[in-house]
Amino acid sequence: MITNTEIEKRGNQHPNHIVDFKQENRKLLFTTQNGVVLEISILRDSVVRFRYATEHVFEPDFSYAISDDVNTGFNQLDVQDEIPEYVITTNKIKIFINKSDLKVQITDLEDNVLNEDELGFHWEENYDYGGNIVKMSKICHSGESYYGMGDKASHTNLKGKRLNNWVTDSYAYGKDQEPLYKAIPFYVGLKESIAYGIFFDNSFSTYFDFANEKRNVTSFWADGGEMNYYFFYGPKMSQVVEAYTDLTGVPELPPLWALGFHQSKWSYYPERNVKKIASTFRKLNIPCDAIYLDIDYMEGFRCFTWNNRYFPNPKKMVQDLEKDGFKVVTMIDPGIKIDRDYWVYQQAMDHGFFCRRADGPHFKGKVWPGECKFPDFTNPEVREWWAGLYKEMIAEIGVRGVWNDMNEPAVMEVPSKTANLDVRHDYDGHPCSHRKAHNVYGMQMVRATYEGIKKYTFPRRPFVLTRAAYSGTQRYCATWTGDNVATWEHLWIANVQMQRMCMSGYSFVGSDIGGFAEQPNGELFARWVQLAIFHPFCRVHSSGDHGDQEPWSFGEEITNIVRKYIELRYQLLPYLYTMFYKYINNGMPMLQSLVFYDQEDSQTHFRTDEFLFGEHMLVCPVQEPNAQGRRMYFPKGNWFSYWTDEVIAGGVERWVPAELHKIPLYVKEGAMIPKYPVQQYVGEKEIKELRIDVYYKEGIENSSVYEDQQDGYDYKKGRFSLRKFRLRGKENELIIQQFKDGNFTTSYTTFKLNFHGLPFTIGTVEVDNEEVDFSEIKLNGNNSIEVSKDFTELHLIGK
Ligand code: GLC
Repeated sequence: MITNTEIEKRGNQHPNHIVDFKQENRKLLFTTQNGVVLEISILRDSVVRFRYATEHVFEPDFSYAISDDVNTGFNQLDVQDEIPEYVITTNKIKIFINKSDLKVQITDLEDNVLNEDELGFHWEENYDYGGNIVKMSKICHSGESYYGMGDKASHTNLKGKRLNNWVTDSYAYGKDQEPLYKAIPFYVGLKESIAYGIFFDNSFSTYFDFANEKRNVTSFWADGGEMNYYFFYGPKMSQVVEAYTDLTGVPELPPLWALGFHQSKWSYYPERNVKKIASTFRKLNIPCDAIYLDIDYMEGFRCFTWNNRYFPNPKKMVQDLEKDGFKVVTMIDPGIKIDRDYWVYQQAMDHGFFCRRADGPHFKGKVWPGECKFPDFTNPEVREWWAGLYKEMIAEIGVRGVWNDMNEPAVMEVPSKTANLDVRHDYDGHPCSHRKAHNVYGMQMVRATYEGIKKYTFPRRPFVLTRAAYSGTQRYCATWTGDNVATWEHLWIANVQMQRMCMSGYSFVGSDIGGFAEQPNGELFARWVQLAIFHPFCRVHSSGDHGDQEPWSFGEEITNIVRKYIELRYQLLPYLYTMFYKYINNGMPMLQSLVFYDQEDSQTHFRTDEFLFGEHMLVCPVQEPNAQGRRMYFPKGNWFSYWTDEVIAGGVERWVPAELHKIPLYVKEGAMIPKYPVQQYVGEKEIKELRIDVYYKEGIENSSVYEDQQDGYDYKKGRFSLRKFRLRGKENELIIQQFKDGNFTTSYTTFKLNFHGLPFTIGTVEVDNEEVDFSEIKLNGNNSIEVSKDFTELHLIGK
């Protein structure tokens, strides 16, 4: 750091005053008197990267977060050398770099300030470890709010919070507890009603202070590495999240069964118990697609082994379950038991794949199997080996998915709960200590797992689940929010965590339904299922210490409620799958917090409970016992009650009924919601007709439905079916236009359109400009018709 005397010696000149400027295409380099270099790269008109070096030189540029498929390209870049600042202009924003102190200010083209440095970049030399603690401070304006940041168990709006990203095994965490399992150093700022975003791509422990220490300052810093952040301009939140998601990537489509209902417990064993659980689902007609094997399926918790007493013939068991529509998902942890007779251990020893301490010995830590060593997944050779270990389990035994747990990595009986900080990592050829690799360790493990499963399950699609994650992990797998608790507070936490993860580019996410630790009562379990069927990943999991947590464990009334909601999930599968398609194609989060839906409405800025499930469904869970109803806010638009078709105009908070069997659920007017019949598992039935619930609107609304083979990769060769609908309602008419894309032939030939809220009695129906006979379209009262799926325009005219 420059001392005060030095500053005095140089007169009033700030040590960070710019002495040199260079432009190399889309890169702009500003060097200051004291050797700081600011490198600004323009990625898109509204996406800009800022990097700072403190001693003239940058370390090699490398990040695990950034996707290979990131879109770059901009329309305009203009740099003006003015007094007192450099002015960089793109098609969307202006960046001002103050010559006297290197401070940055970013505005839109109308000169609204989006973001400005307070102290800006500063740092402290880290004498213990070397390098710097790099810091950035920004002015926080009144009326500015903050969202995103991964799995934080806090209010959706993070203003006033201080957060830490250091992936941590956080058994039975509480509200506002920090840090948790994920490190996603990305936030969306909302200044009045203009949105921008910041992604601080630094894998060291990072900290964010959103006007906590100082009311008017937001800052972020890291224990090491580089000040390296991306700025995204909106002005809409959706544009910010889309740009972040594009930068850090999206997954491929999962197999459709992965969006079904999953049942897990620590642990279902032996085989007859697994089969008993599966057959009970079928006996009670509760849909379910996957059953999970936790650590007890292994021999002494050795990964890639089976306990022969519990599971004498895993291949046969997997096959038997498959016949009944169940896919088996098995757990794999990173810790490899130290056992000279264990082949995985031997291989890793022979090849030198385990992590070492700074002075040479292997790093050891206790996990479920006792003392373990840990592969260095940041080494590409190790990842390749690890991927290969899945061959037998997937290609031969037929396991369909894998969950990677404890991959923070979690280590027992040590205060740090993880690896020692001096542990060495390859970091893909950029050797470093665990301080830098910790937050990406789990990500690189699950990346290797994904590669393995993808290879051995081909031509089917892989399904992988992780607990730990860094930004970008969404490219490889789904995730869950770790060891939560069976309390009402945790139901609230699950709701905000899912919304927040979706806002942070990671939509394929779910919670342990009912709570992992302790046992819910029937009411809590039912309320949790009602919420979680709207979460992209939907799985019951529990520690099993406190009793059973299957849908039928809480008496008949609860079983019936739970069945009804799981059935609703299966009916909504085409809607959910279309949401997934939009997530990976447009970066559109599958769940939207109300503020995301309408940032112009300041009433939404501090709401936590209500959210949109996809574009058209509004959900508000009940989060306390004994409720007969609750208050909820309706954002702009008109909303049909899913249960009664009552229409509520948005912009108000009101009391809505919510007896135990009912979650407040609303559909946006104009929406067309595609539905499948209830199936006990994906693919059980051939879909003979696609039901579409059509909610009348006076005006225009767009909907769509994406379908394909539900597994495999043919969709990448054009074998998909994307149907876009444009609904236009008038006083006495309803027109639906259909636009088709893709060449997948769906199994059904007709749509069954169910009308909600038609304000007129149907008198005439025209399909592609031809009037049709009512018997032909099976007009049923005023409520439904059946029509060929290939119509281009459907026209209903009132009597
Ligand atoms: C961890 C996981 C949990 C799992 C348990 C045993 O606590 O988070 O899901 O059941 O380990 O493997």
